[in-house]
Amino acid sequence: MNDTRGRVGFYDVSVAYDGAAVIQGLSLDVVPGELVTVLGPSGCGKTTLLLALAGLLPISGGSITVDGRRATVPGPDRAMVFQDLDQLLPWKTVQKNVEFGAKHGWASSGKASGVGRQKDVRELLSMVGLSQVSGRYPVHLSGGMRQRVAIARALAADPDVLLMDEPFSALDAQTREQLQLELLSIWRRAGKTIIFITHSIDEAAILGSRILVMGRNGRVMEDFINSAVPTGDQARDIAARAEVQVHLRAALDSCFSEATPPAYASSSPPAGAWNVSREPE
Ligand SMILES: Nc1ncnc2c1ncn2[C@@H]1O[C@H](COP(=O)(O)OP(=O)(O)OP(=O)(O)O)[C@@H](O)[C@H]1O
Ligand SMILES: [Mg+2]
Repeated sequence: MNDTRGRVGFYDVSVAYDGAAVIQGLSLDVVPGELVTVLGPSGCGKTTLLLALAGLLPISGGSITVDGRRATVPGPDRAMVFQDLDQLLPWKTVQKNVEFGAKHGWASSGKASGVGRQKDVRELLSMVGLSQVSGRYPVHLSGGMRQRVAIARALAADPDVLLMDEPFSALDAQTREQLQLELLSIWRRAGKTIIFITHSIDEAAILGSRILVMGRNGRVMEDFINSAVPTGDQARDIAARAEVQVHLRAALDSCFSEATPPAYASSSPPAGAWNVSREPE
């Protein structure tokens, strides 16, 4: 696992649209290799947070860094996967779309051509199970296949941080579940830092090594290491996930009502549980 690259820092970050604050004073430290799922009510600023980290949106205060460098413009150290099933280039084949990702990331790194961090496109297509359809155009792919291509394209430039904005929300339940498992497997193999936005409590609990609940103005309402990460002990996993889901539901309710989140109900909180505070290493 890559444990040296992909550290993300938000320091007292504010973002405004036309002078109206959407995120105010957000501070956050994501350690390399974490898969952080972010939940929060619609309009609380989740996409804004990702766009700012991607360098696609200027911030009005504070700073955002990736491995100590300011993330004010897009760069090959970050790649984004969107919700939209039409995010691929329709005039390029699957293979060419992924190659484009590799070249784009490479080009924007500003380095000379030759050796580099560009990933082998065939290897990536195999990783996402699309070797057989590399010559097809996006129009001939299912929604799940398109999102797999989008993930491969994002990984093609070998970014340190993968930003995913509800990438599976337009898919049917079965495909979504399958892609969640595939993403977990890719994450374990590739060791990327991933920040994954979702509206689904289940998805947050299944995927996140760490879960964050955002309230209005990008306020962090909850931030904890997920005790429901699958261990292989099915009975234990199901019980742990149910507990996390109940807690997340209550946290989200409190976001809507803007009340203080209820205290964790269990008499014996799971190991590595809530409100983890993180000191920079
Ligand atoms: N380009 C824009 N111009 C002005 N306001 C915007 C713009 N984009 C977003 N906003 C506003 O900023 C706030 C946060 O938007 P954002 O898209 O980050 O929310 P979100 O948490 O991702 O919501 P959702 O869960 O619905 O995707 C919302 O009030 C939205 O209306
Ligand atoms: Mg959004």
